[in-house]
Amino acid sequence: MDAQTSAPPVSHYEYAIPHQPQNVQLKRQSFAYMSQLEGWCSEDKAAVLIDLVVKYKPQVIVEIGVWGGKSLVPMANALRANGSGKIYGIDPWDNQESIKEIMSEENLEFWNRADHSSILDRLNKWIRRYGLKEQIDLLRCTSEQAPLIYSIDMLHIDGNHSEKTSFFDVTKWAPLVKSGGFIIFDDINWCENGTLTTSRAVQWLDEQCIRVGEFTDSCVWGVWVKP
Ligand SMILES: C[S@@+](CC[C@H](N)C(=O)[O-])C[C@H]1O[C@@H](n2cnc3c(N)ncnc32)[C@H](O)[C@@H]1O
Repeated sequence: MDAQTSAPPVSHYEYAIPHQPQNVQLKRQSFAYMSQLEGWCSEDKAAVLIDLVVKYKPQVIVEIGVWGGKSLVPMANALRANGSGKIYGIDPWDNQESIKEIMSEENLEFWNRADHSSILDRLNKWIRRYGLKEQIDLLRCTSEQAPLIYSIDMLHIDGNHSEKTSFFDVTKWAPLVKSGGFIIFDDINWCENGTLTTSRAVQWLDEQCIRVGEFTDSCVWGVWVKP
């Protein structure tokens, strides 16, 4: 077999965590919640996050970069279905933090203009309306300022995508994940002005953890297991 025929297909990781028709009611309800929320998490991504939460019953989930809660709320809804567990959402909701190290004009303009406080107010309103206060703890601070949270079962990193901050995020938070816990990293191939800004963070994760899934929807994101 030559190198070309033995190379695995680019999408082979997608079979590591099968996207099965399970937790159907929970997903339907979560997608309805998500339709009211601001953010970027796709239904396909939320479905995988929900399956992981239902199957592995994490007690401690940490999300870096919450915005309007589009990825946080489906995980919180799955925790409620499990009957236990807490998700800590860490985000400064602050323009100055969002534009730090950002290179592209388009992204700078978006994050400069975005009304971060209104987004947070709306998220808090929906959390109350959905009855998810018990599952969610929001910390309005940067990933750097946040207190250490130990024994993390599941970590979702989706904060500032600059090289400096994304690398800081993985190196601060992944060591706090339990052995056997999951790390989900968004925007593996984030590109600004021709630079792949998250590649240093992804390389670090590949060296320290085991990549078990890679998914492509509106972006490319991956799942790692902590050894
Ligand atoms: C891409 S959005 C998160 C999207 C959300 N997870 C979703 O799926 O819809 C990035 C978020 O990172 C936050 N952020 C910026 N700098 C941060 C930092 N230093 N620590 C934590 N969050 C940060 C921004 O306020 C913004 O809400």
